[in-house]
Amino acid sequence: MKSFGTPLKVEKATQSKIEHVDFQSLSFGKVFTDHMMISTYKNGEWSIPEVKPYQNLSLAPSARVFHYGQEVFEGMKAYKDDAGKVWLFRPMDNFNRINISSERLAMPAFREDYFCDGLSKLLELDQEWIKSGDGNSLYIRPFVIATEEGVAASPANEYMFIIICSPVQSYYAGEVRVKIAEKFSRAAQGGTGYAKAGGNYGGSFYPALQAQKEGFQQIVWTDANTHEYIEEAGTMNIFIRIGDKLLTGPTSESILDGITRKSLIQIAEDKGIDFEVRPIKVSEVIEAHKAGELKEMFGAGTAAVVSPIKGFGYKGEKYELIEIENKYSDLFKKIITDIQQNKSEDPYGWRVAAF
Ligand SMILES: Cc1ncc(COP(=O)(O)O)c(C=O)c1O
Repeated sequence: MKSFGTPLKVEKATQSKIEHVDFQSLSFGKVFTDHMMISTYKNGEWSIPEVKPYQNLSLAPSARVFHYGQEVFEGMKAYKDDAGKVWLFRPMDNFNRINISSERLAMPAFREDYFCDGLSKLLELDQEWIKSGDGNSLYIRPFVIATEEGVAASPANEYMFIIICSPVQSYYAGEVRVKIAEKFSRAAQGGTGYAKAGGNYGGSFYPALQAQKEGFQQIVWTDANTHEYIEEAGTMNIFIRIGDKLLTGPTSESILDGITRKSLIQIAEDKGIDFEVRPIKVSEVIEAHKAGELKEMFGAGTAAVVSPIKGFGYKGEKYELIEIENKYSDLFKKIITDIQQNKSEDPYGWRVAAF
């Protein structure tokens, strides 16, 4: 990553927790590394980031984040290659996106120099926590919270920008079947769907639980106005292959502009895969299924790169996809994970040395 020479404040943990961690059986996002990065915003300025031992925060019960959900976050990963070097995947896209999210929540933008230098130092200190090998990575969670005291329903003047990290293993959700939303919505035009704001996720848990009771693992969100168009799959962007044509919906105010989605579109273009970015109707997916033309559905996101969908439910009917060979999802997964783990050339400049 770019280095700006910020005079960071660094306090190392006196004792590492790493020996107590079983890296063979990690639950996603449960264990955190020895250090965190924190910068506070006051009087219109961000403080020089501190990298210090992972610890609890002390906040007033009246802090705005607890009352109005003024919070945004990111999800990114660091990878270690077989030579022990640590890499990030398109980290500046995450930096730019958290500032886009912050703007929507009336929060101040964070500084690029503080982000790059703070994250680099954090990863350097916690590099033992990143394991090489297929599927292993360090999940990185930057987030911003409104910390100002007082329950007035207005934007805060004080914030914290924090980064915490959690070692993760390869993500396999089992066979995924999704329910196409008929009633609930995640986001609407003019709303906050394009921002990675905590409230979008909190509001999706109840519909997701209902879908789980019906035997589905995820919800495919549809547009809030008509529920006729496909938007996203849970916390992933969605791709649908009809015949040999690959489709994904356009980004909009209600869809997160996924970094994996963007990467797959670029790869599809380079590999000469016939693809189209356009609104996708639920009815055309069902018709394609009936005609035997629905070959693949998969989610795309940082957690799993691509997550194949085995079947879906809509208006009380259940539809199964038949297993095919030479899946686009397998091709995309291999190309992206090889770039992330430094196993192949990176013609796009997506792989960036962490420190
Ligand atoms: C709602 C939503 N859509 C899509 C994505 C995929 O985005 P990315 O590929 O940047 O991880 C995510 C995960 O970050 C998400 O939370």
